[in-house]
Amino acid sequence: MKITQNPNPILNKKTAKVEKIDSEVLGVINKMKNTLSEVPGVALAAPQIGISKQIVVTGYKPKKEDDIEVPEMVLINPEIIEKSSMVEELEEGCLSVQKPEIRGQVKRAKKIKVRALNKKGDKIEIKASNFLARVLQHEIDHLNGKLFLDRADPTTLYKLEDRNNIKKGNTNTE
Ligand code: NI
Repeated sequence: MKITQNPNPILNKKTAKVEKIDSEVLGVINKMKNTLSEVPGVALAAPQIGISKQIVVTGYKPKKEDDIEVPEMVLINPEIIEKSSMVEELEEGCLSVQKPEIRGQVKRAKKIKVRALNKKGDKIEIKASNFLARVLQHEIDHLNGKLFLDRADPTTLYKLEDRNNIKKGNTNTE
């Protein structure tokens, strides 16, 4: 399953609330989990597989030393109900911003509280801080048709390929 790449109107569109957790929605969740397991990402929002619904899946097992584990979660109709005034600016990228792959610095609340439904339809509340808080804010932005590109400090945006070329001492642009 390919991940929808920017620019694509579905990535800029506000998604629809899930009214009923039926077999179709469960199918979307499975597809999202399978897709996430095959790509170098920690979370995925439904529009990224072409489905304009309020569904987010997360989950990442560390593979390298600096990796941060992200718990496996399914969030349906997630809403941020509390945000700390304390913010942190860190670099972000996105599975939907790979052609070209762009990164940039984004300010996000350091702590948030999210209300959602799990896949059984139970109401859940998640308190998240630091990396997980950032991941959830990034994914919930996707559900509102926003990419990190819309929030990043524009002066910090760069193409990964350019940086890699500079590192190699190759400053030619072609
Ligand atoms: Ni993303």
